[in-house]
Amino acid sequence: MPCFAKLWGINLSICLLWLLRSCYGEDPYVFYDWRVSYATASPLGTKQQVIAVNGQFPGPTLNVTTNWNVIVNVRNDLDEPLLITWAGVQQRKNSWQDGVSGTNCAIPAGWNWTYDFQVKDQIGSFFYFPSLNFQRAAGGYGGITINNRKIIPIPFGAPDGDITLLISDWYIKSHKELRKDIEEGHDLGAPDGVLFNGFGPFRYDTNLVPENVNFLSVYVDPGKTYRLRVSNVGISTSLNFRIQNHNLILVETEGSYTVQQKYTDLDIHVGQSYSFLVTMDQDATSDYYIVASPRFVNSSSGGKAAGVALLRYSNSQGPVSGPLPDLPNGLDPSYSMNQAKSIRWNLTASAARPNPQGSFRYGQITVTDVYVLVSKPAELIDGKWHATLNGLSYFTPSTPLKLAHLYNVPGVYKLDFPIKPMNRPSRLDTSLINATYRGFVEIILQNSGTTVQTYHLDGYAFFVVGMDYGTWTENSRSIYNKDDAVARCTTQVYPGAWTAIMVSLDNSGIWNLRAENLNSWYLGQEVYINVDNSEKDSSEVPLPDNTIYCGLLSSLQRDQSHRIDFSRMQKLACVSSTTLVALVVSLLCFLF
Ligand SMILES: *[C@@H]1O[C@H](CO)[C@@H](O)[C@H](O)[C@H]1NC(C)=O
Ligand SMILES: *[C@@H]1O[C@H](CO)[C@@H](O)[C@H](O)[C@H]1NC(C)=O
Ligand SMILES: *[C@@H]1O[C@H](CO)[C@@H](O)[C@H](O)[C@H]1NC(C)=O
Ligand SMILES: *[C@@H]1O[C@H](CO)[C@@H](O)[C@H](O)[C@H]1NC(C)=O
Ligand SMILES: *[C@@H]1O[C@H](CO)[C@@H](O)[C@H](O)[C@H]1NC(C)=O
Repeated sequence: MPCFAKLWGINLSICLLWLLRSCYGEDPYVFYDWRVSYATASPLGTKQQVIAVNGQFPGPTLNVTTNWNVIVNVRNDLDEPLLITWAGVQQRKNSWQDGVSGTNCAIPAGWNWTYDFQVKDQIGSFFYFPSLNFQRAAGGYGGITINNRKIIPIPFGAPDGDITLLISDWYIKSHKELRKDIEEGHDLGAPDGVLFNGFGPFRYDTNLVPENVNFLSVYVDPGKTYRLRVSNVGISTSLNFRIQNHNLILVETEGSYTVQQKYTDLDIHVGQSYSFLVTMDQDATSDYYIVASPRFVNSSSGGKAAGVALLRYSNSQGPVSGPLPDLPNGLDPSYSMNQAKSIRWNLTASAARPNPQGSFRYGQITVTDVYVLVSKPAELIDGKWHATLNGLSYFTPSTPLKLAHLYNVPGVYKLDFPIKPMNRPSRLDTSLINATYRGFVEIILQNSGTTVQTYHLDGYAFFVVGMDYGTWTENSRSIYNKDDAVARCTTQVYPGAWTAIMVSLDNSGIWNLRAENLNSWYLGQEVYINVDNSEKDSSEVPLPDNTIYCGLLSSLQRDQSHRIDFSRMQKLACVSSTTLVALVVSLLCFLF
């Protein structure tokens, strides 16, 4: 049962509270203590600084079950502000825990802050990451697995193992150098490599991969079936995932069970997660390649950058051999789009639904509002580089939107985000979409750039109802899937193409809709959606007790008790327990 007390946060009273609560049949609590700090690693053979959680890069997987309460005390040991966001966790009626700049003041360097949220009515595979300052480029991420409760069956046989694979493009430059490049209008260029769970590639080509690179080995038993949870946690590169000689049976996309279909490879775009069932049905004459290679990048650099791990059967008769399995259709995105369109929701699978109350038959619901959001790549606005949606680049105010809203601080934001592109020059603003609570909205994401972008919505799962090349028009609705589109939280939008999503706004809060590609997001390609609601029983939970104040509200910050010298505390705890043991021992010695 989940009552973990780790490292420096041992808190007996919380554990007792948990025991009491479980006696009364409440949802279980799970506790984590995380120290987020820099660490040194050489994923591509060159020493560099990465962001680790409790010394691990990537961080630990958050392995929880539907409806569990998750408490994570995060201590920021970086040299800059930190927020962790739990992308895909819906934070029902609780955007206070979302960990993005519009909902929370950043945790200053040297401080800690405790997240407290419930993974309500959800299942699936997601990941967490640091949301500010381009930090995800240095790591700080980890998997989130939300298991089904025992009483809810999964729509396939129980797998023999559950394996999380975090794949990402990777640069030798630090996150600070990369963000400076972005600010100065430089392109990121092709990545220096692709990582698997923080490891560089197996040396599949002696010219391309240096000698001293550690790679990931995945050990399996013949005949068994494993669930692979694969997330693209990278900066901006779409990755094609495949395993030599093995089929991938797609079963889940970010919390929706899909119609189970066979793929030999699948494009996983930035921020997306999928579960595959993979059966170890080969003869194990050798090990096999697991590959994640950049999609739609110049082949000259694409070759250099492939990520390669090894699949190793326990009865393997020899080392891996031959070339990597082929990357389908190089630069042509239509293969990729057709593949995306083939992914369907399994309507008969039972699971905690991402959108409760009826939106399951989303094709029959009347749309209340339509937003056409056109993204433009970086451009100079007042002499600085910015990226826009409908001509607006989000200006991050020093006071988070949520706090400004609660305390009625005037002038922090406006509720006038345009529902379609305006014929006016691009500019910076803090303009929110003023949505209608319980509205059912259609959002068209139109990509006018030349690279694949992905968009993520916090607080919700949305239905990906359609995508196509060209400019969206009302007629485009004729190709919508109104029946079994998947509900997920991150969708790709191909260059020169559109993607339409539909979402039921039943979750109060102020929620972030953003480009998940770090370079676009960092330059302001995001907007917040205000889902305000005054009905008592469905409004948001109150402000958390431990709220950090900043910006125009910084005078409300009571004390700085977060500034605990943890290393000292730990030592003291050790000393006192040693003293206690010593005392007991001497007492025993005295008695006998
Ligand atoms: C995750 O938790 C579930 C249930 O609590 C457990 O059965 C499973 O083995 C865990 N998975 C991993 C990878 O630790
Ligand atoms: C910081 O950590 C301490 C020690 O575990 C904890 O008591 C305190 O509540 C935390 N502070 C915040 C703001 O979460
Ligand atoms: C859909 O889910 C049902 C119920 O769990 C399962 O039996 C069935 O195999 C699934 N169908 C497909 C095509 O994946
Ligand atoms: C590939 O890279 C070369 C040299 O950097 C560049 O001239 C060319 O336009 C690129 N091609 C594509 C399809 O991006
Ligand atoms: C925002 O929406 C709410 C509810 O739909 C409405 O009452 C309010 O007047 C709107 N505010 C603005 C500034 O449009």
